Amino acid sequence: MLDGRRILLIISGGIAAYKCLDLIRQLRTHGAAVRCILTRSATEFVTPLSVAALSGDKVYGDLFSLTDEHDMGHIQLSRDADLLVVVPATANILARMAQGIADDLATTALLATDKPVMVAPSMNVRMWEHEATRANMAVLRSRNVTVLGPDSGDMACGEYGEGRMVEPADIVAAIERSFADQGRLAGQRALVTSGPTHEPIDPVRYIANRSSGKQGHAIAAALARMGAETILITGPTQETDPPGVAVIRVETAQQMLEACQTALPADVAVCAAAVSDWRPESAGGQKIKKNGAPPKLSLTENPDILKTLATAGNGRPRLVIGFAAETGDVIAKAKPKLLAKGCDWIVANDVAPGTQTFGGSDNSVHLITADRVESWPRMSKQAVADQLASLIADAIG
Ligand code: CTP
Repeated sequence: MLDGRRILLIISGGIAAYKCLDLIRQLRTHGAAVRCILTRSATEFVTPLSVAALSGDKVYGDLFSLTDEHDMGHIQLSRDADLLVVVPATANILARMAQGIADDLATTALLATDKPVMVAPSMNVRMWEHEATRANMAVLRSRNVTVLGPDSGDMACGEYGEGRMVEPADIVAAIERSFADQGRLAGQRALVTSGPTHEPIDPVRYIANRSSGKQGHAIAAALARMGAETILITGPTQETDPPGVAVIRVETAQQMLEACQTALPADVAVCAAAVSDWRPESAGGQKIKKNGAPPKLSLTENPDILKTLATAGNGRPRLVIGFAAETGDVIAKAKPKLLAKGCDWIVANDVAPGTQTFGGSDNSVHLITADRVESWPRMSKQAVADQLASLIADAIG
């Protein structure tokens, strides 16, 4: 149920806007209070009158309306809600959100909010697959916007493919789930490592790897959303800091280990970082110059952070989760790491060339525990994070 939950529904101008009427009805049946903003183009698809009648509230639409601003300013509109949901989310409104454009009431409320935001994209398959839309979705996901769907199927434009809006009942279920998840990890402390490490060769050069930090950052965000006090210790990445997470930036494996040990105690540790196994033995303060033969790099092994945390004795987090980036027979290669590292779960992912796991938005993982292996369907890294956070809450919440 959604008793007393306040939802700000932002309706943009897509053919699926008509489904909003059913969505509003269902949300209210579940006990939610629904307030609606219609973009100018949404009014071409649904009338403010029908939206007002179903929501039982005034409908907002004009950023520069004196009466609207007087009744409820655009800042107040977003503050007064527990959740903002954009349905349908057209390619246009998603692009404006990604760019931070605030040129109407809907996008201004979205920019002004500090509340969770969900979007249900709806557009033609080619628009959905366009590079520009993909880039915008990656930006929105990295900012913690929850993306529902889209589904595949026949479209109003006569084409078939991905881009069809998820059904209102699924949107209601996702909203219910997100509220139910809030607070499941309240009072728990979570430690997450993310990104690559950089191991200096000299003051200019370093050894690194292809990890983007997307998965680790998404996990930290998901744990924080569930109410955990979350500390993210990250190597160098382009990712933005997840909201509500304490972020500690490091460069090397040794610094990452020290930061983890300082951050203890924790109830759960998720080691998603791609820690460099080795570092150059001696990185001097001077740049190595070309003079004749190429230099010989002598490497030494880095501390294993996951293993150190998992075998920490009294200070061991109650649940320690490792990742395994593998190619080939992923499960068979990852399974022995449970024992070797002393951790409770391993999330194994395939990083073979062509999988686009490194740097991409999607992941296909297998969750390996002492007594089971679950192979999850390919899904966004955000969805992997949500599913993992939910299992963590089941285990320690
Ligand atoms: N890990 C770590 N510290 C290291 C190396 C790895 O904490 N120095 C963690 C990673 O964060 C990940 C897990 O160990 O959770 C698995 O790392 P992986 O590189 O796949 O395993 P390795 O033990 O390094 O084995 P190999 O590279 O030989 O597969």
